[in-house]
Amino acid sequence: TCSAGDSQTVVIGLAADSGCGKSTFMRRLTSVFGGAAEPPKGGNPDSNTLISDMTTVICLDDYHSLDRTGRKEKGVTALDPRANDFDLMYEQVKAIKSGVAVDKPIYNHVTGLLDPPELIKPPKILVIEGLHPMFDERVRDLLDFSIYLDISNEVKFAWKIQRDMAERGHSLESIKASIEARKPDFDAYIDPQKKYADAVIEVLPTQLIPDDNEGKVLRVRLIMKEGVKHFSPVYLFDEGSTISWIPCGRKLTCSYPGIKFHYGPDTYFGNEVSILEMDGQFDRLDELIYVESHLSNISTKFYGEVTQQMLKHADFPGSNNGTGLFQTIVGLKIRDLYEQITSSKTAAPLEATKA
Ligand code: ADP
Ligand code: G6P
Repeated sequence: TCSAGDSQTVVIGLAADSGCGKSTFMRRLTSVFGGAAEPPKGGNPDSNTLISDMTTVICLDDYHSLDRTGRKEKGVTALDPRANDFDLMYEQVKAIKSGVAVDKPIYNHVTGLLDPPELIKPPKILVIEGLHPMFDERVRDLLDFSIYLDISNEVKFAWKIQRDMAERGHSLESIKASIEARKPDFDAYIDPQKKYADAVIEVLPTQLIPDDNEGKVLRVRLIMKEGVKHFSPVYLFDEGSTISWIPCGRKLTCSYPGIKFHYGPDTYFGNEVSILEMDGQFDRLDELIYVESHLSNISTKFYGEVTQQMLKHADFPGSNNGTGLFQTIVGLKIRDLYEQITSSKTAAPLEATKA
């Protein structure tokens, strides 16, 4: 009797530049929903999609309209809207949202070509992650919640060096050059999407160490829009107050440079927001429970769930700092949002009979 309401997919958008922690975030998110996401079985081994019981994560690179050669010929980057097919993206996300399976293209990151499509069935939660989930107004309007990972240039550089130099053998100069080459299009097409995001995770160099340029200790800000349906911002101690908190002492071990939290109301691109900030890193992850117990509206199902999730994935990058903490909390908020949306749908027919 409530099948119509059940079939609707909740759609989440996650925007960030590549190499900025989207896949790590997705692993934390799918873990909150209980179950690791894996590539679809029996399909193209180069598929970028990840499927678990609850979630399907689509990489928006699959909507490249120009392949690598096409981009070279036309002189456009992958960040340029002209290299992406927003009409198809819109059609397919809309179809999935309304319960219809689609044949989604696959962009092969190895060959730089478009592979034959794969069938995507409507999941309970669809995450579209990539460079442009909030670029096209039609696609944006389909999103039930949107997140932007805002990694400052200093930190992006530090992460790229770590990965591309250590793991892929690139030179420092070539890493610098590739970041510089992307920057104009990044500034023009990717960065402006953050004003539409319901939550932004901003990652900056620490302020606890004067003139730090190592990018190891991070200052992370969770910017949460007020008035978003099914989403109530997290707060520290007292909702709406402005609070600075140094939890180091008898209950929390902190080595240099320590940990500092900040919380308060603010504005972001003209919107009212709440901002929760953590600068520094945890020495002992199990002591995170002390911090967790002072946060409210974190949408946990039991006491200590944030700490449990963080301990479970202690090996993921960012687990000892605000990136891991805030990604985990946003994951819990998305679970809450999903449960609210689905329960309001099943409740709707009842209300209708009342009227
Ligand atoms: P994306 O999916 O956006 O390309 P990944 O999640 O694969 O990004 O992360 C890319 C690299 O960036 C990782 O291999 C790691 O080196 C670094 N990284 C990502 N998130 C963090 C973090 N929170 N702290 C430190 N390094 C990180
Ligand atoms: C970005 C995009 C990828 C693209 C890469 C390099 O990271 O997300 O889809 O493959 O840029 O682009 P290129 O044009 O050099 O293949």
